[in-house]
Amino acid sequence: MTNKNINNQEVLKSTWTESLANNQQPDGKALLAHLRTVHKNNAGFTEKCPSTCRDKAGRNSYEWLAEIVPNTDGVRVLDLACGSGPLLKILYDRNKNLRLKGVDMCPEELALAKARLPDGVVDLFELKAQNLIAIDDNSIDVVLCHWALTLMNPITPVLNEVSRVLSSGGRFAALVDGPINAAPKYSDVHNLIYKFVQAKLPKYGEIDLGDSRIRSTDRSKNLLKEVFPDAKVNIETSVVFMEGPVTEVAETAAGFFYASFILPQETRSIMLSELSNLLAIPKQSGDPERQGRFSMPINRIVIRK
Ligand SMILES: C[S@@+](CC[C@H](N)C(=O)[O-])C[C@H]1O[C@@H](n2cnc3c(N)ncnc32)[C@H](O)[C@@H]1O
Repeated sequence: MTNKNINNQEVLKSTWTESLANNQQPDGKALLAHLRTVHKNNAGFTEKCPSTCRDKAGRNSYEWLAEIVPNTDGVRVLDLACGSGPLLKILYDRNKNLRLKGVDMCPEELALAKARLPDGVVDLFELKAQNLIAIDDNSIDVVLCHWALTLMNPITPVLNEVSRVLSSGGRFAALVDGPINAAPKYSDVHNLIYKFVQAKLPKYGEIDLGDSRIRSTDRSKNLLKEVFPDAKVNIETSVVFMEGPVTEVAETAAGFFYASFILPQETRSIMLSELSNLLAIPKQSGDPERQGRFSMPINRIVIRK
């Protein structure tokens, strides 16, 4: 058996992690390059956790966000940062006569979205959210953004683009992180993962992906009011959760945190083992294997232009 020193193993390398390692503030270009690297290596990873976690009514966060779209033929919907396309698929299955578009900057994710939908039913574009050049002014009734707004920096050009493409009276709805203490143990899960990441990159956390204002209910409201001064901004909080064999729950929960993807394999395994202990439900006599539970807080932001 080899005796590996895990302290020598390197984190995922990108210009963003290198800036952190050198105590520098990464710029927007480094952020995009980092996200591209994580998504290229793990395309499709995002949807596992939010598809599995459900609220008390049995809805996952895609379904909760999709409720904003009226079930009326011809409604024009843009999924901003659509990733591998789970939200577009839910919308298409619900009403085949919606007019659906999706944009994402990552071609590997778009390829998965294309593969899961019948040919020609959704227009997909490889674009950055800061410059939606292929989408006309006032051409969209509902812009949706599921768990991606928190990754975008600069954020103001994104919101300006959303405002430009939305028709008058159109709606923008985004699913983002909820207040960290709204779900049991969520802050412990966050702290555990960040403890491992900060052992490698101490600045990770103090500097994080995206614009931190979107992670705070009050600050995001102020930011959105800057771009949509006359609009009503409504933010609702909910909690979604999953249960199952604890090793699977831990793996799926960790896969929701971008920070976990920078860890080298061996460090990640140790982190997952600690996470399993944290998420384990006390064993019942009939359980064939240890069960776990993970809950996460979510916010649904809705703005009418
Ligand atoms: C966490 S994933 C969410 C994907 C999908 N909305 C979902 O929930 O399954 C974030 C997605 O945002 C995309 N993304 C991040 N920043 C972006 C930007 N500035 N412009 C376009 N896409 C972006 C990434 O490529 C990735 O597919």
